Amino acid sequence: NPVQAPQLDKCGTATDLNTGKKLDLNCCPPVTDNIIDYKIPPALRMKLRPSAHRVSAQYMFKYNLAVDRMKRLPDDDPRSFSQQAMIHCAYCNGAYDQPGQGSLDLQIHNSWLFFPFHRWYLYFYERILGKLIGDPTFALPFWNWDNPKGMTIPPMFLDEKSAIYNSKRNQDNLKAIVDLGMTGNKDPLQVVSNNLTVMYSEMIRGNADVYDFMGQPYREGTAVNPGPGSSERGSHTAIHVFVGDPREPSGEDLGNFYSAGRDSLFYSHHCNVDRMWTLWQYFLPSNKVPDKKITDPDFLNASFLFYDENKQLVRVSVKDSLDNLKMGYEYERVDLPWLDYRP
Ligand code: C2O
Repeated sequence: NPVQAPQLDKCGTATDLNTGKKLDLNCCPPVTDNIIDYKIPPALRMKLRPSAHRVSAQYMFKYNLAVDRMKRLPDDDPRSFSQQAMIHCAYCNGAYDQPGQGSLDLQIHNSWLFFPFHRWYLYFYERILGKLIGDPTFALPFWNWDNPKGMTIPPMFLDEKSAIYNSKRNQDNLKAIVDLGMTGNKDPLQVVSNNLTVMYSEMIRGNADVYDFMGQPYREGTAVNPGPGSSERGSHTAIHVFVGDPREPSGEDLGNFYSAGRDSLFYSHHCNVDRMWTLWQYFLPSNKVPDKKITDPDFLNASFLFYDENKQLVRVSVKDSLDNLKMGYEYERVDLPWLDYRP
């Protein structure tokens, strides 16, 4: 059977997975039994998620205004920035158990739920921001770390006076080239070249079947962490580690599951992760990536809960997340220099 959406009224203590210690914070969202099954509204106009390195001053203004308003919402509003950050903690740090499975933790990472869960998370986060500025076409920026032109933290996130700024980041890496292979190499040219090799390998060469890319099956009753897909394990984790602050006790913010959502950069990082999924599904030649669909009903019918932009708690399923165009958004087209990268 599919993993079921968590029971919010049974949400409990979360654990810091880096240290194994109980967290002294409450990750649980407001409880209500008014839940509706979400229907994706028809997309009147496609949202275009832009590359964060290329956005206009006007866009930055709008984005910051939206995040500022989100940060000003009362903490108990499920749409507030702090509650949005807690979503990650609740689904990733053992606050929820799998319904009907005793104390078996629910964990959406390291499995085939990784891409769909984060896609829905961004989807509602984006709709909330759009609503707060009265712009239903607002689209999140993606951090284009797979392209040499985007291999540093997008500069707009470094402005200390902006709403999207966060002080808990590795100060040595604010302007450094991301290290997708976690090599520790400091030579910029070598790191760029290695990054492209990493991308080629996790998108194409390294995947023999659909689970190698998507992550291993995770069903009702499955123990946590059946196994991550190539992208989750590779570039995705590398960026978390790259940005996380070594001055903090446990890699906060981006370098720890419970705190990752507190940095606005998280949402742009995950837009690019989500973009990798769409590229893999729709742009990679199928002779290179055979069999891109998971048809297993335990995958398709897995479900999650989110509060939407109107504070309505909704149930969403994996099957409704498979096509980004049906969800009403797409990504700005940029070069894919890793596509044929053979060093
Ligand atoms: Cu839910 Cu990048 O982790």
